[in-house]
Amino acid sequence: MTDNRIPVARPPLAVDDLEALRPAFESGWITMGPAVQEFEAAVARVAGAEAVATTSATSAMHLALLAWGIGPGDEVIVPAYTFVASAHAVAQTGATPVFCDVDPRTMNIDASVAAAAVTTRTRAIMAVHLFGTPAPIDALRQVCSTHDLWLLEDAACALGSSLHDTPCGALGDAAAFSFHPRKVITTGEGGMLTSGDADLLVRARAQRNHGAGMSAFDRHQLGIGVYPSFDLLGFNYRLTDLQARLGLAQMARLDAILAERRRQAARYAETLGGIEGLVLPSLPAGAVSCWQSFAVQIRGRSRTAVQDHLAAAGISAVESCQLVPALGYYATRSGYVAGTFPAAEALARDALSIPLFVGLAESDQERVVVGLREAMTAVAVAA
Ligand SMILES: Cc1ncc(COP(=O)(O)O)c(C=O)c1O
Repeated sequence: MTDNRIPVARPPLAVDDLEALRPAFESGWITMGPAVQEFEAAVARVAGAEAVATTSATSAMHLALLAWGIGPGDEVIVPAYTFVASAHAVAQTGATPVFCDVDPRTMNIDASVAAAAVTTRTRAIMAVHLFGTPAPIDALRQVCSTHDLWLLEDAACALGSSLHDTPCGALGDAAAFSFHPRKVITTGEGGMLTSGDADLLVRARAQRNHGAGMSAFDRHQLGIGVYPSFDLLGFNYRLTDLQARLGLAQMARLDAILAERRRQAARYAETLGGIEGLVLPSLPAGAVSCWQSFAVQIRGRSRTAVQDHLAAAGISAVESCQLVPALGYYATRSGYVAGTFPAAEALARDALSIPLFVGLAESDQERVVVGLREAMTAVAVAA
């Protein structure tokens, strides 16, 4: 049976990437060895800052917040419309995520609302580059310097994105990338912390590895046969060499991956314009996106009905993100009251991600365009 359904995403893996694992098998270094260091260097070149590999973007953000001494009694401002992990990274330190509304056009944090949310307990602002769209860094920087706050980029979705020629990853005081399969490149699971802050990097390197001041690989290289002293509380946030080798194989074709994603996004922008009720994603001035996700907004119609119509045509389309303060864990803790975050609430109701991935055939993209046009006509406008 052939399945001609179009998925919303596919990881950019090539069968040849299997071969990239061979040196790990041959050398016996399968975790935190030379490939992790090479992968860190490869991501650092793209992100424009030094890099520390971790198990996920969430663990990378956790390490950055801990390095800044953020914990119980502190607040970190987080956009209300994002993936839950942005808030979880804050909550994991014992600090409180304070939610803030977003700009309905860019879907990213609204810097003026963030400024109004600052209290004496605020320690940091999280700039989420949602779907690869750079957050309004200049305005957020201004708020951070006025109130002496850290600026953390949640760049989970933003490998290869940039703002005014500075890459996401080098726009804040630290940044976190994700290599989950829905991201621009994937290691299955995995993440990377980037920063220009030498102290933060030293702490993060130790804390990702149970608090060890030196990795087993470095001890091996130096012929040191005793354990290091464990001066910090740590975690097992280590990326394996197997994952790093997969990541390196994709990093070698990152330019082609990004070009393909941008070509597909441009094609959607050309062919989906002017459809009543369909709002296309928009980038701020000076922004370049990696288009981790192409999130349209369905206005005046039921998003579910549009999804159902697409599904009947064999096209997957998924809710783009969520209203985090209203989610189970946060609903009571955040004291959420409906109507508090009008833009985020509208996006949670309306935003829909349509297929965009390396390997999406032009004819399939055309099917998506036709399917979405038909769905917008077929689904009744809400009274
Ligand atoms: C905006 C955002 N932040 C954080 C994360 C978490 O990334 P990870 O699963 O690597 O921790 C994701 C993943 O989907 C995300 O989209």
